[in-house]
Amino acid sequence: MKKFNTYGSEFSKVYDRFWKGFVNQIGPKLVKLYKNYPISKTNKIVVDLCCGTGRLIPSIIDAGYNVIGIDQSENMLELAKSKLRSEMNTGEVSLRHGFAQSFTVEKPVGLVSSIFDSLNHLENLEILKCCIDLVFSSLESGGVFIFDMNTKKALSDWNFIDLEEDDDVVVMTQGKYEESESRAYTRVFGFIRSDGSLFSKFDEIMYNSLFSINNVTKLLLEAGFININFYKETNFEEKFLGDPETLDRVFISCTKF
Ligand SMILES: C[S@@+](CC[C@H](N)C(=O)[O-])C[C@H]1O[C@@H](n2cnc3c(N)ncnc32)[C@H](O)[C@@H]1O
Repeated sequence: MKKFNTYGSEFSKVYDRFWKGFVNQIGPKLVKLYKNYPISKTNKIVVDLCCGTGRLIPSIIDAGYNVIGIDQSENMLELAKSKLRSEMNTGEVSLRHGFAQSFTVEKPVGLVSSIFDSLNHLENLEILKCCIDLVFSSLESGGVFIFDMNTKKALSDWNFIDLEEDDDVVVMTQGKYEESESRAYTRVFGFIRSDGSLFSKFDEIMYNSLFSINNVTKLLLEAGFININFYKETNFEEKFLGDPETLDRVFISCTKF
């Protein structure tokens, strides 16, 4: 059976090399948003769920927090570990293999973050519910969950072919929305230099499940979250008061009562 969302060895290297702009832009804004919450002053532990190669983590530790990064891909985690070795040695960062729908933490944390479409990788609403319930139980009272979601607007328009290259990598991406499955698939394939003049091939398919923001909001309320706010990717200073389905990607913050 075809496996999806693997983030295997070669593709993890490609991922870490490209598409950096998003996290670099979001990191400082996300930390600033979190700092508006009183819990940010008393609970210094943050979980970065689906942390990937750990690109969000430096912004969080620079602001004085300790981070637990959790991801399902050992390959993504390997790269995160290679970049965050010294922070792991000082205890500021711990990285672990785990799943968004079944992770545990030793003690309640102040913030759970999950960005860059990671929760769209969950298979269905039931699994998203498991994840949201677990996030809720891993937070201290007053704790905050900040995450993003690709909306129907973005995913239903997911039809593209793209090519990027540098001296060491050629990467082609092809996107296709499957209406009958409510899923947008992305095939990423190409070659990465592995050893001198030799290149290795990678070929993976990942998907983004389409979750209506109404359903996501319902799950957050059922879990016990309050104070649910939406933000545009470009502006975390002001709550977005319009219909979140009109955005391509929406950021959502909510609080554990
Ligand atoms: C698009 S990447 C985002 C990584 C990181 N948050 C960033 O901003 O660069 C999605 C990540 O989600 C992880 N992921 C997908 N499904 C997961 C699951 N069920 N549990 C934990 N991690 C998951 C993948 O392994 C991958 O590292």
